[in-house]
Amino acid sequence: MIDEILKLKKEKGFVLLAHNYQLPEIQEVADFVGDSLQLALFASKVPERNILFLGVDFMAELIKALNPDKRVIVPDPGATCPMANTLTVEIVEKFKEEFPGVPFVLYVNSRIECKALADVICTSANAVEIVKKLPTDTVLFGPDKNLAEYVAERTGKKVIPVPGEEGFCPVHQFDPSSVDRVREAFPGVKVMVHPECPKAVRDKADFVGSTGQMEKYPTKEPSKVFAVGTESGMIHKLSKVYPEKVFVPLEEAVCENMKRNTLEKVLHALREERTEIVLPKDLIEKAKKPILRMFELLG
Ligand code: 13P
Ligand code: SF4
Repeated sequence: MIDEILKLKKEKGFVLLAHNYQLPEIQEVADFVGDSLQLALFASKVPERNILFLGVDFMAELIKALNPDKRVIVPDPGATCPMANTLTVEIVEKFKEEFPGVPFVLYVNSRIECKALADVICTSANAVEIVKKLPTDTVLFGPDKNLAEYVAERTGKKVIPVPGEEGFCPVHQFDPSSVDRVREAFPGVKVMVHPECPKAVRDKADFVGSTGQMEKYPTKEPSKVFAVGTESGMIHKLSKVYPEKVFVPLEEAVCENMKRNTLEKVLHALREERTEIVLPKDLIEKAKKPILRMFELLG
């Protein structure tokens, strides 16, 4: 199957881009594996006009919005992000009406229709920096309430979570006692967690960061063992980058949506050249503005 995927990819001029949470065998056939923003930026640099994207829908939409002239296909259009889906256009509009003049900061894990209504987009890697750089003391922030709380802690600003209590990633709701357990089992272990984790877990960790930041953390840390508080695919990614180090899961954490992509589906997608991500031009134009604002603020 792998041979046929590689052959078809070459023959048909496709580049395969995979998120860090994809199955190990999917990561192995991909040309590039990274976090959501790294993937969208990488897609802009490749000469291929055809992209087979392996992740979930909001990431594929981001790639298409930043590369409207490329053809983006996904093996399973049903692979989505339940947290992103907690936020709807109606909810965004309601909060904007209730808090006029308060900037709406939207996490990249969101639907493109919501992005079109945001003032600025952020990722888990740059959310703190983006909110710091905004000229107001209060911001609206969605859809992840845990990331919103983390940003408030780090910036000292008032961060209003939108939609509120229901905005969280089910995969990252670890128990704080797991941190104690890995520390006991692996003395000297460094614990890294994603900011989508609850505060009680973040507070006990040695490092809080996006998957892209987690990839860099072991470089500066002499420790041999790392506990990984994010989706299990990241263990494969880290083990490849640092073969001399040991990565253990903080808890078993599987994003079922990320894991909907299989080698069989990749092969089928390449054979059939579908399913293509199609977005209306005006939606792309509207969504691009807050994305470009993020790049401007980052400088
Ligand atoms: P990253 O942007 O850190 O890759 O995370 C995406 C995601 O879905 C986290 O659960
Ligand atoms: Fe969404 Fe959580 Fe899966 Fe990331 S891990 S895609 S935030 S459900």
